[in-house]
Amino acid sequence: MGEAPVGDGKGAALTRRGLLVGIGAAGGAGAMYAAMGALGLAPSAQSKEFTAPRQGDFTLRGKGSAKVVILGAGVAGLTAAYELGKAGYDCTLLEAGQRAGGRNLTLRGGDRLTELNGPAQQVTLGEGGYFNAGPARIAPWMVTLDYCRELGIPIETFVNNNAAAYVHTNGRTTRARTARADMYGYVAELLAKATDLGALDKTLTKDDRDGLLEFLRRFGDLGPKLDYEGSDRRGFTKFPALDAGTPIPAPGTLHQVLAAGTGRAITNDFGYEQATPMFQPVGGMDAIVTRLQEAVGQDRIRTGAKVTKITTLDDGVEVVHTGGSVKADYCVAALPPHLLAKIPHNLGPQISAALATPVPIAAGKIGLEYGRRWWELEDRIYGGATETDLDITHIWYPSHGYHSERGLLVGYYNTEHEAELYGALTPEDRRRRALTQGKKIHGEKYRQNVLSSVSIAWERQEHIQGGWVRWPAFDSSFTLLQRPAGRVYFAGDWLTHLIAWQAGAMESARGAVTQLHQRVLQSP
Ligand code: ALA
Repeated sequence: MGEAPVGDGKGAALTRRGLLVGIGAAGGAGAMYAAMGALGLAPSAQSKEFTAPRQGDFTLRGKGSAKVVILGAGVAGLTAAYELGKAGYDCTLLEAGQRAGGRNLTLRGGDRLTELNGPAQQVTLGEGGYFNAGPARIAPWMVTLDYCRELGIPIETFVNNNAAAYVHTNGRTTRARTARADMYGYVAELLAKATDLGALDKTLTKDDRDGLLEFLRRFGDLGPKLDYEGSDRRGFTKFPALDAGTPIPAPGTLHQVLAAGTGRAITNDFGYEQATPMFQPVGGMDAIVTRLQEAVGQDRIRTGAKVTKITTLDDGVEVVHTGGSVKADYCVAALPPHLLAKIPHNLGPQISAALATPVPIAAGKIGLEYGRRWWELEDRIYGGATETDLDITHIWYPSHGYHSERGLLVGYYNTEHEAELYGALTPEDRRRRALTQGKKIHGEKYRQNVLSSVSIAWERQEHIQGGWVRWPAFDSSFTLLQRPAGRVYFAGDWLTHLIAWQAGAMESARGAVTQLHQRVLQSP
């Protein structure tokens, strides 16, 4: 928001922001929104500063909140209900499945997991064991952590990068620390030598050159002649203690290191979304669902209610579902777009076309519960991930329960083609295949002492049918759905640039809530 003066600007000491802060303090968010609207500053999309609706917003207006029907009790739907509930909106959530949470799913012993065109799985994880079948990690900058704080959910570190984990590419297994040391070392050597030979003199000043060389020496752990000759960053076969230890033998040649193809595997956590540290709720990701449900009120969530028709009217909305129908003032449709696209409605052909635009992406995971935490005992891997070019893509080691007897690995977490391939198998065959692949990295112990397993193919979850979606382009269809169609608002991670994150669902819900609340406050 800029600091342009209000009015004609001639000597006006009052800035727009100053005015709004004053109005906000006196009249609450409602009055502030109204003033913002008048100044052309009203929030119009997600990712803006969020102010939760409050009961007090209605006092100046002499009106009350409204009745809202929310389609889908996933993270977006629950967040919308939670925020609207703060101002006393009368929310009803219609959930097609038998439980709330959507893709936020934590499986434990005693659960039963069904899927489309496949057998049901009885989950037999031991007591205290859990498997986050959907979201499993949270970046610190994400709003998800704000909700954990607000809802009193304890969090712990999710280890997303572990130098002791492995990299398995082109049929070879290396510790991540070794693969990184070699690649950084050789890259640094090449660039340092080119710099030193003057090949970059047209680009670099003398000071630049010195600065770059100084950095590259550190980056690659280079020798005095700018050679990469290996380094103790590669690790040890026997770590130093009373003696100096036994370093892993010197690296292969530059050619061999490049041919190992470790590129993606050692850069996986470079992005801002995956950068360490990351976090997880203690005891399972579904703590977020549990606490949101408690805050919203279990009685507001109607499960087994599959929506079959949405009608926006002049004075409200009508939603028909398998158990009856609901009339409300507004609707927040927080279902996956590809499922919404199949529900008859009167929102117009543009909305239909927009909803049909995002492409669902398959995603799958398997949890493998072992009776012995051999990855800690033998491999000294405490959390983190082994990155592979196999169809399992990753192996995740648990970031909790260290040193306990049992433990659960994520034996694959894959998407698109690989996920479809595993999803098409029976649960038993998924497990067999995952164990065969993991054995290539960890040896025969990977197939021993497996107490139980459970796998999910998100594209086969009846009321979700995808891990997430991809927009061919963030075009006018995307922005169209960020605005209401009649009295229907849309929400979900798929309406943000945080697709496949709970934070996306939450930010989107906040956007819908802000717009809806503003409209209620401004309606005649
Ligand atoms: N948010 C998903 C993940 O962290 C894509 O793997």
